[in-house]
Amino acid sequence: MKQIPEIMTGRLCLRGFTRDDAEDVFRYASDPTVLFHTTGETPRSVEDSRKFVDSLLNNLPGAYAWAIRLKNEFRVIGAVEFGLEDGRNGSIHYALAKEYWNRGLMTEACRAVLDWGFSSHPGLQSVTTSAVTANRGSTRVMEKCGMEFQRIVKEKWKKFDEPVELAVYSIDRRRWESSQQLAAGDADKPRA
Ligand SMILES: CC(C)(COP(=O)(O)OP(=O)(O)OC[C@H]1O[C@@H](n2cnc3c(N)ncnc32)[C@H](O)[C@@H]1OP(=O)(O)O)[C@@H](O)C(=O)NCCC(=O)NCCS
Repeated sequence: MKQIPEIMTGRLCLRGFTRDDAEDVFRYASDPTVLFHTTGETPRSVEDSRKFVDSLLNNLPGAYAWAIRLKNEFRVIGAVEFGLEDGRNGSIHYALAKEYWNRGLMTEACRAVLDWGFSSHPGLQSVTTSAVTANRGSTRVMEKCGMEFQRIVKEKWKKFDEPVELAVYSIDRRRWESSQQLAAGDADKPRA
C-alpha cells in the first residue's frame, strides 16, 4: 500500500484513510446533498462507506486520498483525492461535511494538496478538474485555488437522466509557480 504523506495547514490535518474512518465518512456522506453534485452514490450504510474507504486504500499507484480533520477534532470531516494520471496531468476531487461548508476549509485543503502535487512531482505539468456548473461552492473553490476556467462540457452520469453541465478548470505549473512567488512576496512585505 502506498504511503500518503501527512499535510498540515493552518486549521487542518490531512492524512491517509484507515478502515476505521468508515463511520465518520458515512456520517457526512449519507447527507443526500453532499454527494449530489458528484458521480458518487450516497451511501446507505456504514458498509457502503467502508467499501468506498477500501477503494481508496486499494486504488492505483498514481491515486492519492486524504482524510480531512480539523486539527482540534478527531473525526474525519471530508476527503480530497488527487490523481496523477500519466505523471504529467493531475486531477483533484473533494467533499466536505455540510456543517463545515463556507468557512474556507476546502480551499485550504485543496491549495495544500496542489502545493504538494507540484512540489513533490517535478514532472507534473497541470491539474484539471470539473464541477457541475450549478455547484457554485465547488467552482469557487477552484477559482480561489488559482485554477482557471477552461470550457463547459456536457457529460452523461448514471445517476441523472439528463446530461450534466460541467465547468472545467485547470492550473498549470507556471501559474502555480507564480502564485507561490506572489505568496512569498506578500510574506516578505513589512507589516504596516
Ligand atoms: C464544494 C465544497 C467542497 C466546498 O467546500 P467549502 O469548504 O465550503 O469551500 P470554501 O469555503 O473554501 O469556498 C466556498 C466558496 O463558495 C461560495 N459559495 C458557496 N455556495 C455558493 C453559491 N450558492 N453561490 C455562490 N457562491 C457560493 C462561498 O461563499 C465561498 O466563496 P467565498 O470564500 O468567496 O465567500 C463543499 O460545498 C462540498 O463538500 N460540497 C459537496 C461535495 C462536492 O460538491 N464536491 C465537489 C464536486 S466537484
